[in-house]
Amino acid sequence: MQIKVSKTKNKLYGQTSVPADKSISHRSIMFGSLAKGKTHVKNFLTSADCISTLNIMKTLGVEINFIKETELEIISEGKFISPQKPLDCGNSGTTTRLISGILARCPFTSILIGDESLSSRPMKRIITPLSMMGADIKSQDFKLPLTITGKNLNGITYNSPLASAQVKSCVLLAGLQAEGTTKVIEPYQSRNHTELMLEYMGANIKYKDNVTEITKSELTPQDIEVVGDISSAAYLIAAGLIVPDSEIIIKNVGLNPTRTGIIDVVKKMGGNIEILNETTISNEKTGDLKIKYSKLKGTEISKDIIPRLIDEIPIIAVLASVAEGTTVIKDAQDLRNKESDRIKSVATELKKIGANIKETPDGLIIEGKKSLNGDAEINTYHDHRLAMSLYIAGLICEKEILINDFEWTKISFPNFEKNINLLFS
Ligand code: S3P
Repeated sequence: MQIKVSKTKNKLYGQTSVPADKSISHRSIMFGSLAKGKTHVKNFLTSADCISTLNIMKTLGVEINFIKETELEIISEGKFISPQKPLDCGNSGTTTRLISGILARCPFTSILIGDESLSSRPMKRIITPLSMMGADIKSQDFKLPLTITGKNLNGITYNSPLASAQVKSCVLLAGLQAEGTTKVIEPYQSRNHTELMLEYMGANIKYKDNVTEITKSELTPQDIEVVGDISSAAYLIAAGLIVPDSEIIIKNVGLNPTRTGIIDVVKKMGGNIEILNETTISNEKTGDLKIKYSKLKGTEISKDIIPRLIDEIPIIAVLASVAEGTTVIKDAQDLRNKESDRIKSVATELKKIGANIKETPDGLIIEGKKSLNGDAEINTYHDHRLAMSLYIAGLICEKEILINDFEWTKISFPNFEKNINLLFS
């Protein structure tokens, strides 16, 4: 689906909310399936990625019933049946990598497949530690399809070369079912939703900063309410900051400190953003965000903040394109392994609309401009975050832009355009 975006004459104004957190929604289904009994999930994200996880768990014999549009119950024996067909992870890296950690100990063989984008993404990062634990995983060139045959696993201490929550979570889920203790040490701390939810469900887990330790445990079913996704909120935050005279409040945005890098960067860039009504829901921090149109300035982003905003770099690049001065993004080489090579795709597509942006091996250098020309046809490379970032840029481009394959937004933010349009006064 190709859409047109043209310069908005209206400001964004009023209150809104964003869809539920994608990372937490995936985990609610997987961990709820591991727990024997009935897990109840409220505010589940029914995006394509999370539905991939849900369908896989159904194929593995778990009963999952929707009670309302975004509310469901998971009824599980706490163990799975041998799947009669390949398990389709769609576009979702989180599904593939976390479920691999679960399947590594299940007493049958399963095959994981995915779409074109997912099939080109690296899986060595999970095959290496799982193999150290005794797993049997076959692949060609460490890419999908993966054939996983369940084995008894032993705990390990894994010094992960990457700050990746997908890798960490995969090892922890294998560790949950392994003999002995499993410890994961990361170069910098990645998002800790796995730790928080496993703790909430009674697992024997300890975590502090970049070190997490788990021993074999049973999970207890719980009521889980998923908070709003800060990565989805990031597009609205950016629109509020760059569309003149805007003032918006986004209700119930997840504020887990391992995810709030975007708020820190916006503040550093001079953006007017305020946190209101902080509280905790199902072991996760949440609150409301108030954003006002602001004059932004360039900044430097590197090292430990990178995992705290890894999915927000495309939209930060949009902000930087219209900020005063230079923005340098470093230490983000793993962006090349996301749904698209996000260093290349962000630079290529933002250049088309007139941004002054340069690719580096591990990041981007952006010289801010007063305005962006637009007048371009944008490719989205099966990448939902690129599509949404360019849409926000399109709201302030001088001339109309066309965005191809806009339906990819369904991966994380169903009804994205409708949600934004409700804020235009
Ligand atoms: C995710 C972790 C991140 C992120 C992805 C979701 C998760 O990947 O980019 O969108 O749910 O664990 P890495 O931790 O591998 O960087």
